[in-house]
Amino acid sequence: MEHIYKYIEEHATPQSEALNWVVRQTHIRTNHARMLSGALQGQLMRMLVQMTGARRILELGTFTGYSAICLASGLPEEGHLDTLELNDELEDLILEGFERAGLADKIALHIGDCKQTLGRFREEMGLAEGSEADPEKLYDIVYMDANKREYCEYYDLVFDMVRPGGLILADNVLWDGKVCQDPLPQDKQTLGIARFNDLVRDDPRVESVILPLRDGLNVIHKRL
Ligand SMILES: C[S@@+](CC[C@H](N)C(=O)[O-])C[C@H]1O[C@@H](n2cnc3c(N)ncnc32)[C@H](O)[C@@H]1O
Repeated sequence: MEHIYKYIEEHATPQSEALNWVVRQTHIRTNHARMLSGALQGQLMRMLVQMTGARRILELGTFTGYSAICLASGLPEEGHLDTLELNDELEDLILEGFERAGLADKIALHIGDCKQTLGRFREEMGLAEGSEADPEKLYDIVYMDANKREYCEYYDLVFDMVRPGGLILADNVLWDGKVCQDPLPQDKQTLGIARFNDLVRDDPRVESVILPLRDGLNVIHKRL
């Protein structure tokens, strides 16, 4: 499989200098470089942003900013991306990457727990009291890549923050193949993702497909 991925990578649009910098810094300054979305998924997401004409994006799980840069680089001039990250130690690295990519004015980094930040956003959008959000404030794309145990909760929290016809992209939904193992491993992350994939499959409000790209990307389309 590895030689096929190498070939695919060699035949996709190469990543930018700013992304090369983020990857290098991630290796030098963290022990978790495997968490990066990577060049293929990054390029696909950038193209999805461009092809759908997305203007507002929400990301859960910034890490060192790689996927935020990929997504935001597909946005039009007036576009905006909100990205949520728990680990405040990453803040300087993230913000320098956004500067180097020339995207600092398009991306807002929100440090804190996703669920708390989403609760605040929902209040600001008027959704907390059960009323309808201003259509201008709805997101066109949500990219979920934070705590795998909490994917179902994230889905419930973000669903009405996405415009009808918009996309929810969820990363790592194959979880290294563990979600297909029989018997299913009983650790909380595998169970969280398996429950999430079932929830999406059984949700009549969406259509979806899991792309077997890297660790699995669930592409979820909110019906009109
Ligand atoms: C897989 S990494 C994200 C990778 C990033 N999207 C990329 O492709 O470069 C997951 C990130 O989610 C963050 N995270 C985990 N739990 C979180 C939570 N409850 N709230 C906010 N961020 C969280 C972690 O600190 C980590 O940086």
